[in-house]
Amino acid sequence: MRSLRRRLPKSVFARCVAVASALLFGALPLLAQPSTTFAKAPPLPDLSGKVVLITGSTDGLGRDVARRIAAAGAQVLITGRSAPRGDSLVQEITRSGKGSARFYQADLASLAEVRRLADAVLRDHKRLDILINNAGIGLVFDSTRKFSAEGYELHFAVNYLAHYLLTKRLLPLIVASAPSRIINVSSGSQTPLDFDDLMMSKGYNGGRGYAQSKLAQVLMTIDMAPDLERQGVRTYSLHPATTMATTMARALNVTPRSTIAEGVESVVNAITTNEPTGTFFNQLKPWKANAQAYDAAARERLRTMSEQLIAPRQ
Ligand SMILES: NC(=O)c1ccc[n+]([C@@H]2O[C@H](COP(=O)([O-])OP(=O)(O)OC[C@H]3O[C@@H](n4cnc5c(N)ncnc54)[C@H](OP(=O)(O)O)[C@@H]3O)[C@@H](O)[C@H]2O)c1
Repeated sequence: MRSLRRRLPKSVFARCVAVASALLFGALPLLAQPSTTFAKAPPLPDLSGKVVLITGSTDGLGRDVARRIAAAGAQVLITGRSAPRGDSLVQEITRSGKGSARFYQADLASLAEVRRLADAVLRDHKRLDILINNAGIGLVFDSTRKFSAEGYELHFAVNYLAHYLLTKRLLPLIVASAPSRIINVSSGSQTPLDFDDLMMSKGYNGGRGYAQSKLAQVLMTIDMAPDLERQGVRTYSLHPATTMATTMARALNVTPRSTIAEGVESVVNAITTNEPTGTFFNQLKPWKANAQAYDAAARERLRTMSEQLIAPRQ
């Protein structure tokens, strides 16, 4: 490490460290107290009659979470960009004879599509018991900044802002279905948001983009928690597991450290837990997120900026 530091220019070395830490999805801080056993969450209750929306459920963690929740009897609303993968999961769940499923195609890199998705769900369903904001991208090796349809930095747009808008738009239905839950699949990879340059026009690197968007989800969770609690809705954020063998992790060419099944337990735990609303979990354990998450002024700033960013343009 020291010789690498000597050989590389300071800025390049800093980038390598940021990317390596993002690669481990926060493993560096979290591995300080590693969970050596594959802990199981309490079993899901019978979810017959419940409706559960899982973003990013055409692949990876979201797909296996959808399978588990459908097996408990719920109607699962599958979302993602890939219609073939979405349709195939619906068919698989239908064939299983447990629960039911319906696919909604939407690209979360467009706020117009997020609105269309939310409106379709509000039109088609009389209840929404659990919203799981799971869809995510992690272009941590990509040094080229990418943008959403509205011109926002892509990690921020897909991982955080789309879910902020989706949650707000679906809130009347979630509240009407109380007691209900909103679960935000974040990560242990968290970097404080730079509010003076939220779109990362200076010194972009993909690892930081990913880590900022993941921390934004935690800020949102803690920020919304008190109001939601008054309306009978609990909300949690979580690090599912470190480098699970999913498409996202495979694209980074790293050796998986966890199975997807381990991540599923983390989400199931958030569905069943009685920990105080707003809690951030490292897998099954309540955990301390990055300090910025506990800064009320930062949370208010993110909320204000988010409202401006989701406002439809004239
Ligand atoms: N893998 C890990 O080790 C790890 C660790 C910590 C946290 N996480 C978090 O866990 C969550 C799931 O990750 P994963 O590893 O399961 O990833 P994955 O296998 O790549 O799956 C990502 C899911 O998100 C959807 N998605 C991506 N971009 C989208 C877009 N623009 N619009 C709509 N849907 C989109 C994908 O669907 P389509 O392809 O159909 O669009 C897919 O269903 C993410 O939030 C990630 O940050 C993962």
